[in-house]
Amino acid sequence: MSDMASRVELCPLTLADQDEFCSLVRASAELHSPWMQLPGTAEEFRGWMGRFGDGTNRGYVIRVRETGVAAGMVNINSIIRGRYQGASIGYAAFAPSAGRGYMAEGLTAVLRHAFDDLRLHRVEANVQPGNKASLALVQRLGFRYEGLSPDYLFIDGGWRDHERWAITAPAPWTPDPSLPEV
Ligand SMILES: CC(C)(COP(=O)(O)OP(=O)(O)OC[C@H]1O[C@@H](n2cnc3c(N)ncnc32)[C@H](O)[C@@H]1OP(=O)(O)O)[C@@H](O)C(=O)NCCC(=O)NCCS
Repeated sequence: MSDMASRVELCPLTLADQDEFCSLVRASAELHSPWMQLPGTAEEFRGWMGRFGDGTNRGYVIRVRETGVAAGMVNINSIIRGRYQGASIGYAAFAPSAGRGYMAEGLTAVLRHAFDDLRLHRVEANVQPGNKASLALVQRLGFRYEGLSPDYLFIDGGWRDHERWAITAPAPWTPDPSLPEV
């Protein structure tokens, strides 16, 4: 999970991150609204951590190596094996560190982790058409546009249309043993 050329590193999210994470989420309310809802209280955080129990969802903090500052977060959600071998990512910058390229570096690291360590074949990012910063980010990372899905995700109290962006594993790729042989 490390790359010496990158200014950031991926750190698995743990219960110990609670206070720092929640206070950064509260400080980022304006940046995240209406695109992303993250836990801002201890109670919400503990409830949210429950999703990471069985390996289907994984959570990471993107930290600036030099300072340890949490610049953002990224989840690898809904990991499905079998003939799919894919997942979708959710991500957000924390306001004090936004707009410095840390998210692009953090997501580059998460893609490498997804393809090389988790041996996923496909990573999707679902983005609302009005979310210009997020669309710019996925395009910069080499995701391709696959279409618009109406009423795709329940966000901010309603079913929102999403553009589906995806990237598949670069060659050479070693499949996970759970991939059927034929
Ligand atoms: C989408 C989001 C994560 C993008 O975060 P970000 O901080 O803009 O992304 P980066 O860290 O890659 O920063 C990119 C910006 O930093 C600038 N930058 C500054 N120094 C840089 C460097 N060394 N390298 C790269 N970019 C740099 C880039 O030019 C770019 O600015 P621009 O958008 O004005 O062109 C953020 O806007 C966010 O949290 N939004 C709310 C939550 C959300 O929408 N999540 C996604 C739901 S689909």
